[in-house]
Amino acid sequence: MTFTRSDIDARRARLAARWNDILAPNEAVLVHCGEPIQKPGGLDQTYPFLPHPAYFWLTGRRRESEAVLYSKEGGWVEFHKEIGADEAVWEGERHDILVEGKGRPNSEQEIYVALQQFDNVYHLGQHRTPVEGKAFELRTALDRTRRAKDAAEVALIRALAAIAKSGYERIAEAVRAGVTEQDLRIAFESEILRRGATGVPYESIVGSGPNSAILHFPPTLKTIREGELVLVDAGAERYDYCVDITRMFSAGAPSQQQKDLYKLVLRAHEECIARSKAGVQWRDVHLHAARVITEDLLQLGVLKGSLDSLLEKEVSQVFFPHGVGHLVGLRVRDTGQPENINPKLYAGARLRIDLELEENFLITVEPGCYFIPALLDDAAIRSRFANDINWNEAEKWKRVGGVRIEDNILIGKNGNDNLTIDVPKVFGN
Ligand code: GLY
Ligand code: MN
Ligand code: MN
Repeated sequence: MTFTRSDIDARRARLAARWNDILAPNEAVLVHCGEPIQKPGGLDQTYPFLPHPAYFWLTGRRRESEAVLYSKEGGWVEFHKEIGADEAVWEGERHDILVEGKGRPNSEQEIYVALQQFDNVYHLGQHRTPVEGKAFELRTALDRTRRAKDAAEVALIRALAAIAKSGYERIAEAVRAGVTEQDLRIAFESEILRRGATGVPYESIVGSGPNSAILHFPPTLKTIREGELVLVDAGAERYDYCVDITRMFSAGAPSQQQKDLYKLVLRAHEECIARSKAGVQWRDVHLHAARVITEDLLQLGVLKGSLDSLLEKEVSQVFFPHGVGHLVGLRVRDTGQPENINPKLYAGARLRIDLELEENFLITVEPGCYFIPALLDDAAIRSRFANDINWNEAEKWKRVGGVRIEDNILIGKNGNDNLTIDVPKVFGN
């Protein structure tokens, strides 16, 4: 069993404690699950339905068109959609209710809410109403509550990590000169589906040789050549919960350059994980990754000049152009809202969250170092960092591509728990 009634009740209690400070008497919140989305020009074709994560988290239900109401006076009231005979004929038994609960018929939703004569009803979840004013405060409180993963969520994510581990083991067996990027994707995805994942949380990324420098490279029929690096960033999903993992492989023995790049990223990865605990500002973890990458690229002769001036100029952004990680769990960008993205750049990168870490947050730690032609050949970048990058040396690293290492870290009070640590890091072994 994935979630129980008591898991749901405990989540609601944690959330109500926050919402009660915001809601006036006789105000209510309605969290909507959402509707299937029609494919453009698609007659009766819709995209696979994804329940709004807040609705699923609050109810354990994944059925479209439903909603759950909360008010201080009335507590929680669920509205359930009945499945009609026609749907039963076409779709058979649905598996979209993980937690049984009492509910009113969905058809009564509007009239029931109207009869309560609330002063205000705030709409959250999937709904057309803009989230402003008090609705914004309520959504922020909901996101804050959801960020701390409970034991049942962690158990599900651990199970997904074990499934992904199996998928990565199949890749380790399959990787060699002569197979294609797509072969590795198939090896991974077929294994995780066989072991109970219902899909992938994002399009699997497999980049070999110079393709490994393209951050979200979709696998192709390119044949992997002897001596090439392979970057695989692939996850496993069930009920929209997921893991998001990156591992490196090599076809044949890695070169010294490849080993040096891997070692650099591994140091950033390990040191950033060691820093990830409650009370730490996430931006400081990112800045640490940028520092390690700068120090080691200077050591390798890709950068030149003094470390202090390179850090001040934020040259690391040419080789590490993304944030060091993001919240993950219920979807691959968990509890993300535009307001969490501070418009400020840190070491030249935009972070997907700019928050203080709290206990039970689940976050990816995924530093990377890449030799990306689109950046290295950019005229503005070449002029801005003309005296900081050893351009002839950087050119020689383009053939290597890039390295990223990614794990999913559960934040603790004084440390953390790496939920994906068992996915083997086999590069260079
Ligand atoms: N898997 C995409 C990412 O790392 O965010
Ligand atoms: Mn990833
Ligand atoms: Mn990620």
